[in-house]
Amino acid sequence: MSGKARLTELMARGAALLGSEYAILGGAMSWVSERNLVAAMSNAGCFGVIACGAMTPALLDAEIAGTKALTSKPFGVNLITMHPDLFELIEVCAKHGVGHVVLAGGLPPGGAIEKIKASGAKVICFAPALALAKKLIRSGIDALVIEGMEAGGHIGPVTTSVLAQEILPVVAADLPVFVAGGIGRGEAIAGYLEMGAAGVQLGTRFVCATESIAHANFKKAFIRASARDAITSVQIDPRLPVIPVRALKNASSELFTAKQREVAQLLDEGKVEMGEAQLQIEHYWAGALRRAVIDGDVEHGSVMAGQSVGMVTKEEPLADIVETLIEEAAAALERRAA
Ligand SMILES: Cc1cc2nc3c(=O)[nH]c(=O)nc-3n(C[C@H](O)[C@H](O)[C@H](O)COP(=O)(O)O)c2cc1C
Repeated sequence: MSGKARLTELMARGAALLGSEYAILGGAMSWVSERNLVAAMSNAGCFGVIACGAMTPALLDAEIAGTKALTSKPFGVNLITMHPDLFELIEVCAKHGVGHVVLAGGLPPGGAIEKIKASGAKVICFAPALALAKKLIRSGIDALVIEGMEAGGHIGPVTTSVLAQEILPVVAADLPVFVAGGIGRGEAIAGYLEMGAAGVQLGTRFVCATESIAHANFKKAFIRASARDAITSVQIDPRLPVIPVRALKNASSELFTAKQREVAQLLDEGKVEMGEAQLQIEHYWAGALRRAVIDGDVEHGSVMAGQSVGMVTKEEPLADIVETLIEEAAAALERRAA
């Protein structure tokens, strides 16, 4: 069997779930994963996912309609579970007949999974640990993403390689599992598929696609950076648990320290509850990321990037990135079979 045929075989389950040619999910990236990148991703045979982030229901409505105008292929929507309008956002997805909703940012609130499933859509959730994966499977989800700390953006404490070894052997028979975090080349895709993954999810590798609307400065920062430049944010106050964020090293870490002090003081003074304090931190990140992605301020904004950023070396059409990944994966499988 050729490497390409073996790859198609290994990706069959994930591709069938997504309705795409390849079992490659475009990791939703706030501000970056909008209609242009998402449509390009789906048109290239992968599965694009709109990052709803902090969008209002009206904005999401327009983004889905805009994406539909650019592709006839299936795509999904990523919703953050702590969004105050989560249920309304689910209704917007249902209105458009979105086939797949990816829930990110912690365990979904009661009723969310049921509401998405009632609309006929499939539910994909993130599991940062085996126990949570099992709990989510019991609640009826259709697929899982396991994402390691090599990834860009908000991250958990465990590496992709360890999560893959802990979770794939136990749950891969029950439902399709997509592996994310630190994947920059096709050889790694082939490796995770052979370990039992149904597919993979990549974010960082797609940021510098020609179709990506990220500011030229943001793309330049990616092209210049190496793996060691993608570092994690630091928590300064033990009472205020903040989810670490991986981004390129720049002056913005001081701004984040100042923001944490400000929010911690509001907590001290009893002016905000913990939930509200955490939401303020999340809004901070959305604003800081916008500043870098849209305004191009890569010094004071947040240039969220994964460790695979060192493997991003130029701006090129998304279809070329996908072709490279597929060729590398197929060649790796061919070599192993020889
Ligand atoms: C700039 C950037 C923004 C991101 N924003 C989000 C987001 O809004 N929601 C989400 O679930 N994941 C977000 N992520 C994570 C990606 O969806 C994806 O899981 C991750 O990039 C995969 O790891 P990789 O960067 O090593 O490829 C973001 C990642 C990056 C690099």
